[in-house]
Amino acid sequence: MEIIICKTKEEASRKAADLVTALVKSNPKAVLGLATGSTPVEMYKCLIADNKAKKVSFKGVRSWNLDEYWGLPPTHDQSYRYFMDENLFDSIDIVKKNTHVLNGLAKDWKKEVASYEAAIKKAGGIDLQVLGIGSDGHIAFNEPGSSLASRTRIVSLTPQTIKDNARFFKKAADVPRQALSMGVGSIMEAKRIVLLAFGANKADAVKGMVEGGVSQFCTASALQMHQDAWVFCDAAAASKLKLKKYYAWRGDEALKAELAD
Ligand code: F6R
Repeated sequence: MEIIICKTKEEASRKAADLVTALVKSNPKAVLGLATGSTPVEMYKCLIADNKAKKVSFKGVRSWNLDEYWGLPPTHDQSYRYFMDENLFDSIDIVKKNTHVLNGLAKDWKKEVASYEAAIKKAGGIDLQVLGIGSDGHIAFNEPGSSLASRTRIVSLTPQTIKDNARFFKKAADVPRQALSMGVGSIMEAKRIVLLAFGANKADAVKGMVEGGVSQFCTASALQMHQDAWVFCDAAAASKLKLKKYYAWRGDEALKAELAD
């Protein structure tokens, strides 16, 4: 796991976007796994800027998102389909039919998740998966107690996640209690992982992910077992890491080498 520690989330987001842009330039048909939430918004702004500046085109890219609230239609302003259109897809040259978000209104969720996983497999798997991290250490909606081998399925959100996400809704009671989510096992199949974490409220989660034991209590800790995982943090999110100076130095070197290739 490489850990890039920057002073600000803007700097970290720009560096993470550089990895995404480099991949799409080298493979214009890349398959991206995408995340929602407040964390990746700044990185998406960088990708939009790169696309507008004609540094990169997303015309051949296909994407699959991590999760969707169960019960929200795609037109709901808090659905993750709506979020992706607003924060990325409508501002870049990606072909909309090549973007995929789980259907939160599917009649049969088992069929929905099975066809979602099958489509990713048919596309050759995810080349680069973007992730945020919950304050309880979740990735996608793999809450504490999710099997580290889990696949895409219906999940129940913890009271902590409902509280964290209530800021996007009028009141906590409006936050859906369930979601369809890719599993930890599904995420681990991505060839490269780019996880972003910003702010002091993510410091415990980042500590658990990087320096804690691998455990279903902090599902992000599974990334310790991934061969190509990159974590981009601001100083606040990295503040509880014991070896943060070493990680920062090593991560900068690794990123420089990666982008020079
Ligand atoms: C979103 C997702 C979640 C978020 C996490 C952090 O697609 O899968 O795991 O990444 O809940 O959310 P924010 O970024 O809003 O702090």
